[in-house]
Amino acid sequence: MSLSFEGRVVLVTGAGGGLGREYALAFAERGASVVVNDLGADTKGGGKSSAAADKVVEEIRAKGGKAVANYDSVEDGEKLIQSTLDAFGRIDVVVNNAGILRDRSFARTSDLDWDLIQRVHLRGSFLVTRAAWNHMKNQKFGRIIMTASAAGIYGNFGQANYSAAKLGMLGLANTLAIEGRKYNVHCNTIAPVAGSRLTETVMPPDLVASLKPEYVAPLVLWLCHEQCQENGGLFEVGAGWIGKLRWERSQGRTVRQKNQPMTPEVVRDQWDKICDFTDATKPTSVQESLQSIMTVLSQVESGGEVDVNPTAAAASAT
Ligand code: NAI
Repeated sequence: MSLSFEGRVVLVTGAGGGLGREYALAFAERGASVVVNDLGADTKGGGKSSAAADKVVEEIRAKGGKAVANYDSVEDGEKLIQSTLDAFGRIDVVVNNAGILRDRSFARTSDLDWDLIQRVHLRGSFLVTRAAWNHMKNQKFGRIIMTASAAGIYGNFGQANYSAAKLGMLGLANTLAIEGRKYNVHCNTIAPVAGSRLTETVMPPDLVASLKPEYVAPLVLWLCHEQCQENGGLFEVGAGWIGKLRWERSQGRTVRQKNQPMTPEVVRDQWDKICDFTDATKPTSVQESLQSIMTVLSQVESGGEVDVNPTAAAASAT
């Protein structure tokens, strides 16, 4: 059975071009009513134009789809959701996609370079999503996408501001996934790679042409479908490939013993073990993460054997 979005109302931010346009077209093709948001800024966030969003709406309508344009900045989150409700009466899906770049080496990053990027990506996603949240909760259905970036996951020279905002969105998504779960409101994060006006400055033209946004959109549609139970996931996607990421934590080392000082020397001496990923664990929640720490606490305090702790010899030898 093909995945239909008939009856669903979808808001795609920054949908006047690039990835967002592709999402809007794909949702509309499968029956969704789509709000095409775009304030028509340049890649650095300057300027304003209704043309970008209008063009995508025309494209959708020409194919018999349902769409309206919205030209507000995502910094006016309430307005985007209000115009969605005014046009279609509900909100089922929010794809937080709008974005700009102000790349600078860290030393040259100005307050404005920092603030604009946080405002559009992180704060914009917060404001749009918060405005939609109660509607989704009340109807016991919602799907939210956050758009992160490999630059946030791995870091990238000249993108300190952007990396921080993009991984901030992952942190936001992690908690929304927990708070939304019981209301069937799911939030997932993607780190896409696609040719667009944002990437044409850093990619050669043939790569821009071949890494099509069409190779990203199907993941977004699946994550936003009612059949999809994925929640709190992080996915890298591009060129027709999709992979999932998760955290890994080393077994670690207890470097403290009852009634003895914990010293940086012991940390140094155990460093290889602390950073050894053999038999790494993959905690998925704060509870799981804390559990091992609480176990160590009681082991150390009871003076009992901490089996992962060979520090006595190291400590007395130094
Ligand atoms: P794009 O520049 O083609 O699309 C972004 C759109 O957002 C533009 O149409 C722009 O007018 C709009 N926009 C900017 N500020 C806005 C605001 N305040 N309110 C409403 N709309 C606004 O770029 P692309 O590549 O399609 O990027 C889409 C998203 O994917 C961005 O969040 C970007 O950071 C992210 N991304 C893209 C990658 C890629 O390889 N293309 C890589 C990693 C992340």
